[in-house]
Order: sequence, then C-alpha cells, then structure tokens
Amino acid sequence: MAFLWFIAPLLLATFVCAKPPPGFGLNHGIHKVNVTSYEVKQKYTGETLHPLDTTYYFDQLIDHNNPSLGTFQQRYWFSYSYYQSGGPIVLMNAGEVDASGYLGYLTPGTITGTLAETLSGVVILLEHRFFGQSNPYPNLSEESFSVHTLQQAIDDHEYFANNVVLDMPGGDQVGPNNAPWILVGGSYAGALTSYTMYEKPGVFYAGYASSAVVEAISDYWGYYEATRQYMARNCSADVEAVIAHVDTVINSGDATAIQALKENFGLGGVTHDDDFAWALAAIMQTWQQLLLSSGPGTTFFEFCDALEVESDGEVAGPSGWGLDHALAAWGSYYEESFIQTHCGTTNSQGIAACFNTYDSSNPAYTDTTVNNWVRSWYWFLCNDFGFWQGGAPESNPTLVSRILTPAYFERQCTYYFPNTFSSPPDTSVDATQTNSLYGGWNVTTEQLIFLNGERDPWREATVAADGTTNPDTDLQPHLLAEGYHCSDMLTIEGDVNPSVKAVQQKALEYYTQWLNEW
Ligand SMILES: *[C@@H]1O[C@H](CO)[C@@H](O)[C@H](O)[C@H]1NC(C)=O
Ligand SMILES: *[C@@H]1O[C@H](CO)[C@@H](O)[C@H](O)[C@H]1NC(C)=O
Ligand SMILES: *[C@@H]1O[C@H](CO)[C@@H](O)[C@H](O)[C@H]1NC(C)=O
Ligand SMILES: *[C@@H]1O[C@H](CO)[C@@H](O)[C@H](O)[C@H]1NC(C)=O
Repeated sequence: MAFLWFIAPLLLATFVCAKPPPGFGLNHGIHKVNVTSYEVKQKYTGETLHPLDTTYYFDQLIDHNNPSLGTFQQRYWFSYSYYQSGGPIVLMNAGEVDASGYLGYLTPGTITGTLAETLSGVVILLEHRFFGQSNPYPNLSEESFSVHTLQQAIDDHEYFANNVVLDMPGGDQVGPNNAPWILVGGSYAGALTSYTMYEKPGVFYAGYASSAVVEAISDYWGYYEATRQYMARNCSADVEAVIAHVDTVINSGDATAIQALKENFGLGGVTHDDDFAWALAAIMQTWQQLLLSSGPGTTFFEFCDALEVESDGEVAGPSGWGLDHALAAWGSYYEESFIQTHCGTTNSQGIAACFNTYDSSNPAYTDTTVNNWVRSWYWFLCNDFGFWQGGAPESNPTLVSRILTPAYFERQCTYYFPNTFSSPPDTSVDATQTNSLYGGWNVTTEQLIFLNGERDPWREATVAADGTTNPDTDLQPHLLAEGYHCSDMLTIEGDVNPSVKAVQQKALEYYTQWLNEW
C-alpha cells in the first residue's frame, strides 16, 4: 500500500521572514544585483569583489561550555561593496532556515543591504546552527541536539563577532572592539537579537529586531488576533460562525454528524477530530504569507472571496452570508482548491495521511537527516517556546476550533523526540523560563530598535502586543507600521506603503546618530 507522507501540513506556522521574491534586487531601483552571477564592485575603489553567493565557513565552537569538543563549519555570506573604513558591521542571523536562499539580504532590496549602503558598512548573513548546512554534528538526532539551545545560538553570535576574519582588506581588524556591530534579525532571529543584546551587553553596539517574538507564549492563540482584526469583516463573521458550528458538532459526540461535517470539506478520511480541526486552521495560517506588496491572487484573499463573493459578483455585507452559505462555500473551496494545493494530492488516502498527526512512525517525525528545518525548529518549540497556535479562550472570538489546545501539539513532541519526552512536555513552564532568562517583552536594552507590523500574526508575542507596557524610548525605540510579518525588512514594502517607509527611515536616523557617537 502506497502511503504518501507530507511534511508541510504537520507544520505550525513558523517565523520565517519573507524571502525576497525570486529575482529580487534585479529590477529594484538602480541596484541591479543577480546574486548568482553579478560581479560585485566596491563602491569606493571600483574593485571587483567576490560574487555574493560565495559561501564562507567559520570555525564555530560545537559547545561553548566545552571548547575542547572542537569546531564545526558555520556558513556565512558577506559583502563589503559599500564598506568604508570606520563603517559598521551589520550581522544578520537568518534564523530557522537554510540561509542560502536569503542572499537578497546582502543587497539593498532589504534592510540589511540598505543599512550597509547607507552607513558604509559590511553586511554579513549568518546561518543558524542546526539549520541548512551549519551543523555541529552530522545528523539531527536528540543526542546531537544536546548543543541545540538558545544559549549556544547566542554564544555563536559573540564568538563569531570576536573571531571572524573577513576576506577583505583589514578583515582581521573589524571585531567589536574596532568597529560598531549591528545585530539584525527578523521573527525568531529578531528575538535572538534581543536575547543576545540582553545577555551579552557590550558586544553589539546596536540592534534591529523585526517582528521579534521576544515573549515566549505556550498557548499562543493570539497568533490569529491580527488576522481577525484586519481581515474583511464579512469573512471573519462567517469563519467564526462555521467554527462555532464545528465545535458544537464535535462536542456533541454524534459520530454521524461529525462524519458528515468532515465530508463537507473533503476531509471524510481524517480520523481524529482534532486533526480535522487543525486542517480547517490551515487556511488561517496563510495570512502570514501576505505582504503589503503582495499582488492579487494570494491564498487568504482567494479564500475570503470564495466565501463572500457570489458568482454574479454580489458581495456579502459586514455580517457575512451566514452559516449555511459559509459552510457550503468553505467546503467547496477546500475540496476544489485548497486541499489539493496544501497536500499535493486529491487522493483520499493521501489527504488522510496529510492531516494525520497521530502516526509516530511518519518520517516527518523520525527523519534525522540534516537540513530538515522543521525538526530543528520543533526542538525549540518543545523545549523553549511552545507558541502553539490553537483556539482562543471562550472570552474571545475565535477563527480556529477551541478543541485545539497546547496538548494537541505537545503530544507531537513525544513523536519527534521520544528519548527526551516520554510524556508530553508542559511547555508553559519552559516558556516562563525562557522569558526569565532572556527578558521577554520587558527588556530595556539600549540602542536596540524593535520594528513591528500591525497585521503580523506574531505581533502578540512582540513588544507591540496588545496590552504590553514596555515603553518606547529614544534608546529603545518601538517602531510600528501597517505591515505584516517582517515587512520592514524588505525595501519594496516601504516603496508601496508610507508607514513602512517611515519606520525604515526612522531606524536609519537612529543608527546614523548612534554611529556618530561611537
Ligand atoms: C542570474 O544568473 C544566473 C547565472 O548566470 C542565471 O542562471 C540566472 O538565470 C540569473 N537570474 C536572473 C533572474 O536573471
Ligand atoms: C548522529 O550523530 C551522533 C553525534 O551527535 C553520533 O554519535 C551518531 O552515531 C549519529 N547517528 C547516526 C545514525 O548517524
Ligand atoms: C466582504 O468580503 C469581500 C471579499 O473578501 C471583501 O472584498 C469586502 O471588502 C468585504 N466587505 C465587508 C463589508 O466586509
Ligand atoms: C512584564 O510586563 C508585564 C506587563 O506588560 C507584567 O505583567 C509582567 O509581570 C512583567 N514580567 C516580568 C518578568 O517582569
């Protein structure tokens, strides 16, 4: 019997910042950079430099607590095409991805390239340990993960800055004692930027933390709050009505009614009710793919159009069409379009496997080969963060089923890491500990800028969360724009939206001022 395994659908929405679009930088203003072939010129000497896709390897300590274990090769890429002696070193950690896809962050199509260009700096893109090809050990086993900790990643930043010798004139003279370093990150890496500056004062002169999820929150139902607040009213009304109905039917325990409900969405083969609920949440997670510069045809808007716009063009008013219409429209959208794209199959057995989180022998849980970012990422979720994206409490409207609680996700930690978790972890304890170690959203770190987007599903874990009290000061500015997740890191987002442009420019003003004081 042919079983089809799909990794993506098991995923929680993660923190990856937008990749610059394909060919990004090629047609952006005057900065024509094809990172695969472009010959990079030094702006001030005219000299031809190494191509941007030249991979460099840093000998990083495997274990900062035990240097005698030796080193591994940590990948990085860099550009000094805008550098002038005295300029800053802009270090960006790519976070939980294979960093080789993010070389656009060396170009002015992004905030890091722009910082380098404007401030006459060097820009470096560093790959996080246990992601891509930067692995202390040759596999992602639990044994190897003994050195996969937030603290080791923080220590990597310090050791890299203090020891890297850049392949450029004077490249052995640019450590933090000789040059101002600016640490940059978006999303998880934004949090890591805050953690690093909190925990290692004095290494990095300034920081840029975009959509930085500094506060670990185990029961992260707030993930859907930005979506609920900013999506079309009619669509949220209808989604809330469908989900309330789904919860009523599931809680009724009426097996016939539950089966009929699953079949309405083309999910009749999904055995577990919570997996079915999670399958309905999948569409809500596509909100995170949005950017202000996204064109038409993006999945989330397609979904709301399918729910709210009739074939004759008639559009529902603010309260939507109501439950019956929404159930039918959502059902057809799932059956005819979304599930196929999401699971890569129309085969009913394939769909059942795609949404089945209960098979602990699924290679999605057991594959320990390197460059499996999902596994490396889950290690942090299960040990440090939680960040489980389930339903809201009864006191709050919800876009996803309330039967999805942290336990649904914590159970999966025992499949990924059976030697570490003989029973599901209580990640709320871990999250509290992470916050107490690294300051959470109460940090006061000088010359660290927090940038956030109102529409970002991760905003509720940042210093811009509803109800946080961390003050915005000139030494720790909080810049908020209309953007989505990490919008401020992409130049094009500022080009299409003045509020994003304004925060990008404001950040540049702060760095200019701080560098003058260095
Ligand atoms: C960039 O250059 C490479 C190598 O010459 C080429 O294969 C690729 O098509 C170019 N990309 C674009 C978007 O022009
Ligand atoms: C995985 O790496 C560890 C070192 O962390 C090593 O001891 C072990 O043999 C490796 N396992 C496999 C299956 O290669
Ligand atoms: C209703 O939904 C459509 C499609 O998503 C949207 O274009 C429109 O703005 C919405 N109208 C209201 C009043 O919510
Ligand atoms: C952080 O600030 C919040 C208010 O925004 C407060 O409720 C919480 O106790 C603070 N946490 C710590 C660890 O100080």
